[in-house]
Amino acid sequence: MVNSLSPSLRRVVVLGTGGTIAGRAASGGDNIGYTAGQVGVADLLGGIDAPEGLELVAEQVAQLDSKDMSFDTWLQLAQRCAGRLAEADVAGVVITHGTDTIEETAFFLQTVLAPGKPVVLTCAMRPASSLSPDGPQNVRDAIAVAAAPSAKGVTVVCAGAIHSALDVQKVHTYRPDAFASGDAGPVGYVEEGAVRRLRDWPQSPAGKRSKILEAKPGTATRWPRVEIVTSHAGASGAIIDLLLQERAAGVAEPVRGLVLAATGNGTVHHALEAAALRAHDAGVTVLRATRCASGRILPRPDDRLRDAGALTPVKARIALMLELLETAAA
Ligand code: SIN
Repeated sequence: MVNSLSPSLRRVVVLGTGGTIAGRAASGGDNIGYTAGQVGVADLLGGIDAPEGLELVAEQVAQLDSKDMSFDTWLQLAQRCAGRLAEADVAGVVITHGTDTIEETAFFLQTVLAPGKPVVLTCAMRPASSLSPDGPQNVRDAIAVAAAPSAKGVTVVCAGAIHSALDVQKVHTYRPDAFASGDAGPVGYVEEGAVRRLRDWPQSPAGKRSKILEAKPGTATRWPRVEIVTSHAGASGAIIDLLLQERAAGVAEPVRGLVLAATGNGTVHHALEAAALRAHDAGVTVLRATRCASGRILPRPDDRLRDAGALTPVKARIALMLELLETAAA
């Protein structure tokens, strides 16, 4: 399937949030000793010609290293995307982002927006100051996806591949081709500005917009506290018990949810599982997500704690936070 630009779709909005793609180092040969989030999004578009019939509009939403991504920036991004996508002449939105948490932002946006138009996150593994930066080609490819008439849902475009927000994971610390989509494989590829699609665009099971989009911009949202605890050789229940003690003592933000980063098919060290069951009995929602890079947890009849299917621990945490938020708002 090859898409070409439809004349009726005229604008792609490019939202900047920082990252290595906007990073600067003291020398062009340095691809690791840089500061992320230095170059403005309008400058990132400087050398990029808009495809014919398309206008690019740049907006700076944040300027940070994505390891420091905050819930409030997520909400701001989601609301900005929703507003822009509602404009009839906007074909899609591109978001420039750091690679380190791009999969979390993508999953969050797909879950809360379930957009019928494309929202395409892109990034770079080398800073803008590099002798050979990967950002400009990634941005060009992301714009091609955002302008493709059939495109929809939230994707991550990097190194010529289009990944679904639901499947994408950063799998390499250094190489420009740093992302993979596990068993599902990429949605497709971008080749010389054309999108070659291999499978369906991402679709959220619920397929409905989240209530949090209605939160007043700028007002602090109370995000439920959900912690991730890893099961490993020699694990104990000590961290969970401390969280339960805090909760019993009435701290301002008690733990509301726990994601167990479980081994293999969702198994958990017996000591950690005992503590997780105590948490469950105390009213904390507990989810098991596999530590494995690929595959999903296949449920067993004797499972005592819910599983997160194919979601990674970080994505399961977002899903649980949103579930708790929606339940509280109901
Ligand atoms: C970041 O995630 O903001 C820094 C690292 C990167 O973009 O590769």
